[in-house]
Amino acid sequence: MADRRVEAVIFDLDGVLTDTAEYHYLAWQAIADEAGLTFDRRANEALRGLSREASLRAILGDTELDAARFAELLERKNRRYLQLLASMGPDDLLEGAADLVAEVRRRGRLTAVGSSSRNARMVLERLGITDQFDAIADGDSAAAAKPDPGIFLAAAADLGVAPQRCVVVEDAASGVEAAHAGGMRAVGIGPADRVGDAELRFERTADVDVDALLGCSGPPGRC
Ligand code: BG6
Ligand code: MG
Repeated sequence: MADRRVEAVIFDLDGVLTDTAEYHYLAWQAIADEAGLTFDRRANEALRGLSREASLRAILGDTELDAARFAELLERKNRRYLQLLASMGPDDLLEGAADLVAEVRRRGRLTAVGSSSRNARMVLERLGITDQFDAIADGDSAAAAKPDPGIFLAAAADLGVAPQRCVVVEDAASGVEAAHAGGMRAVGIGPADRVGDAELRFERTADVDVDALLGCSGPPGRC
């Protein structure tokens, strides 16, 4: 049987280590309101993990925009998002996040971030935890964002660890799907209707059981 012992943990950033998921929502809501597009907190749940472009396509639905207007809305959303991040600091780490990463490292496993965000490095700097990761893969690290596995595979390659020996921690359905598509197991953070396909699930980052996380070494579909 393949050796699936967990050697590395790849953490999603937004919604797992910090609550930027809320800032992404607020920025999209402002853009949707300005542009007269229907959007709300519930619709936002489906955007977790998706790239900036895929998020706007999902918000637009059947509404068609020319390329220039599409690019303008993306630019405005990012500007709004960066404004919301302006005052971010180490206090914005989610409860338990720093301890979880530190404990994984203390137990001799490698750590990485795998985020669809092109702002991920800046956010990690602001949180003051960049040096806690052996590899960082972001929205610029792969040709396609989640649910494509490219970002997680880039992180695993950078770590030098085979995908089947990596476990991904994710708050998004698209991220759980990406982990599985890359041959990795997934630990979901959040409600079952969002991350129910993950091999293990915890309500919050602070609830993650490190023994269970590092023991998640069964075949796909099981821990
Ligand atoms: C993901 C978020 O981490 O990054 C998404 O979950 C976001 O909501 C995506 O759209 C892209 O982020 P950014 O910072 O490049 O716009
Ligand atoms: Mg996320």
